[in-house]
Amino acid sequence: MPLVTSTEMFKKAYDGGYAIGAFNVNNMEIIQGITEAAKEENAPLILQVSSGARKYANHTYLMKLIEAAVIETELPICVHLDHGDTFELCKSCIDGGFTSVMIDGSHHPFEENIRLTKQVVEYAHDHGVVVEGELGRLEGIEDDVKVSAADASYTDPDQVQEFVARTGVDSLAIAIGTSHGAYKFKPGTKPQLRFDILEEVQNRLPGFPIVLHGASSVMPEFVSMINKYGGDMPDAVGVPEDMLRRAASMAVCKINIDSDLRLAMTGTIRKYLAENPSHFDPRQYLKPARAAIKEMVRHKLVHVLGCNGKA
Ligand code: G3H
Ligand code: 13P
Ligand code: ZN
Repeated sequence: MPLVTSTEMFKKAYDGGYAIGAFNVNNMEIIQGITEAAKEENAPLILQVSSGARKYANHTYLMKLIEAAVIETELPICVHLDHGDTFELCKSCIDGGFTSVMIDGSHHPFEENIRLTKQVVEYAHDHGVVVEGELGRLEGIEDDVKVSAADASYTDPDQVQEFVARTGVDSLAIAIGTSHGAYKFKPGTKPQLRFDILEEVQNRLPGFPIVLHGASSVMPEFVSMINKYGGDMPDAVGVPEDMLRRAASMAVCKINIDSDLRLAMTGTIRKYLAENPSHFDPRQYLKPARAAIKEMVRHKLVHVLGCNGKA
């Protein structure tokens, strides 16, 4: 099976009340851990590449690793640019074989966001590629850009119909209170998401796939593991799993997860090296890290996203 777009995945997810996991990938072990779990759970997958990942690992290496995963798993896999910020970056990914791109014009004024998004949509659709746009700004760190709480803003449901109609986007990321990174909610407070906004967006765009960024749960077992084995992370609070399940049962068809992969990998490597201080073969510590990613992703597919058995 060749790489696919997310069109069919989203149709089935919307109708079935589940979501597709969109996992950020940066190297071979991360790709293997994610795709091995998806293969065993027969789950469709979106593997997403940020511009930082592309700078780190190189476009061709990542594409070839993902192509290897397609051969090994025979799963429907969509390869997606995460947070594209310019037409040129989106074009380069489309020309380089990605099947989906995000153009994130959310930091621009509404009219400029529409102009830029439409420009990407026209080029992408001419090449059989789908596009995710964004309205509303998430707090947190994306690549080198830090969005402060003061600059973050919820999506305005009054704008979504016009944005989708004028740009032609295939899916829309909205801001309902999630944020990027490990520190999403104040420790000791109850995490809140604006499900009223999601519901309003869903009513105005019936059948249209919505995307949730900043959706790591910041799994406490991995934060504890990092701190137990020499790390020094402050209290970190992510999105509770029941909220993600609720979003997946609504119009949210794509749930973005990166921080949980980072925490699983780093926690496991810290533990391994602390317990085996004389070891220096990278395969020895990357093997359990890959296995931890696999089991963490399996948990998400089965217990959070509900996309197991849907490939
Ligand atoms: O939303 C951002 C993702 O977590 C990607 O992070 O840009 O550091 O690769 P990155
Ligand atoms: P997390 O930082 O919550 O994993 O979010 C990742 C993301 O939204 C990638 O676009
Ligand atoms: Zn994001």
